[in-house]
Amino acid sequence: MTTPTLPGHPHFAYRGNELFAENVRVSDLAREHGTPLFVYSKAAMLAALAAYQRGFARRDAQICYAMKANSSLGVLQVFAQAGCGFDIVSGGELERVRAAGGDMRKVIFSGVGKTRTEMRQALAAGIGCFNVESEAELEVLSEVALAMGLRAPVSIRVNPNVDPKTHPYISTGLKDNKFGVAHEEALRVYRHAASLKGLQVVGIDCHIGSQITDATPYLDAMDRVLDLVAAIEAAGIPLAHIDFGGGLGINYNNDAPPEADALWQQLLAKLDARGYGGRKLMIEPGRSLVGNAGACLTEVIYLKPGEHKNFCIIDAAMNDLPRPAMYQAFHAIVPVSPAASDVPATTYDVVGPVCESGDWIGRDRALAVQSGDLLAVLSAGAYCMSMASNYNTRGRAAEVLVDGSAVHVIRQRENAQDQMRHEKLVAG
Ligand code: LLP
Repeated sequence: MTTPTLPGHPHFAYRGNELFAENVRVSDLAREHGTPLFVYSKAAMLAALAAYQRGFARRDAQICYAMKANSSLGVLQVFAQAGCGFDIVSGGELERVRAAGGDMRKVIFSGVGKTRTEMRQALAAGIGCFNVESEAELEVLSEVALAMGLRAPVSIRVNPNVDPKTHPYISTGLKDNKFGVAHEEALRVYRHAASLKGLQVVGIDCHIGSQITDATPYLDAMDRVLDLVAAIEAAGIPLAHIDFGGGLGINYNNDAPPEADALWQQLLAKLDARGYGGRKLMIEPGRSLVGNAGACLTEVIYLKPGEHKNFCIIDAAMNDLPRPAMYQAFHAIVPVSPAASDVPATTYDVVGPVCESGDWIGRDRALAVQSGDLLAVLSAGAYCMSMASNYNTRGRAAEVLVDGSAVHVIRQRENAQDQMRHEKLVAG
């Protein structure tokens, strides 16, 4: 049989009939650490980051990794050591940045529902900027900062009302989304912010959605945001930085998003043409830095032929890989040792052991497998482990970071005791 290639995954490749992550045979990882197992390539993360760094060469730009995509400490450490800041959305994420050795001054805090406690925590840590999403939040933040004798650095998330043409659950820049301040309201809200004693206006931000595979919505959003920058500055409120959010897509299934450097070449040309080329820039990429740097190894438990459907039951499930159940998302599923079995290819629905019909990982996939074989679910570096749950009292998977020939366990497999640690029987 011919060995499949893995487009979009340069750091996961077949050598002979074995799948490798960098220089490590992944079947060895499964044997040693068990399955399901998330395997990340450090080189793949750094290569994805390098595309942005090339794009921003000789510019005043700060890349803030949107850590909701994958907030495991070992992953954060890679980006902290590479000089990245972080886009956080909770006090918990702030503590993760601290634990991973990140620079608090390069942290921006996004999200529509920051609590007073989280605001105090972030102010005490000295983060770089709060990306504020409503007037109510502006007022509370000002009050909290004043009570601490501080001024909170703020940017307001504006809603450019452009359609990113992605899944409705992951588009955020349209009028009817809960995020940001409407374009038409932005100038008034900036005036309000500038009048509050506990705030210091430092920037403007937007984020239009996720898994965007086309440059057009970005270019449109940039025009809309720059129109606002002009109006806000004409009103006497200077904006030191412009933050264009994240959202660049990856190749899951013959998707062809622009490379980060090519996208930014176009965006920077527009920025220059409109006279804002020297402005400090920030971006908040998540998926595009880690998505194709990770795979989830899983073992086939049973094959279950049926009249209309054949099922391939694997030991990974919707609690490990929630994206198919939540967004009908596609993840490629490939054999770890393609020539190991001589069984013919059959079309299967690849499903997990969780007691839900929604627990599927792939539909109608042609696979030549038998029980005991290993499969790799690709593009599993983003929004998988960070969205994993303990549903059905399934322990979350282990994670390893591959760096050349070295393997680092960055998360141990969770057991039942770990899951019950904070629970108590009723006394008496
Ligand atoms: N900045 C903000 C304010 C965001 O809300 C997000 C993602 C990002 C940056 C990073 O976007 P990225 O570069 O990763 O596209 N769970 C969904 C994706 C949810 C994205 C939420 N916001 C999925 O699995 O597709």
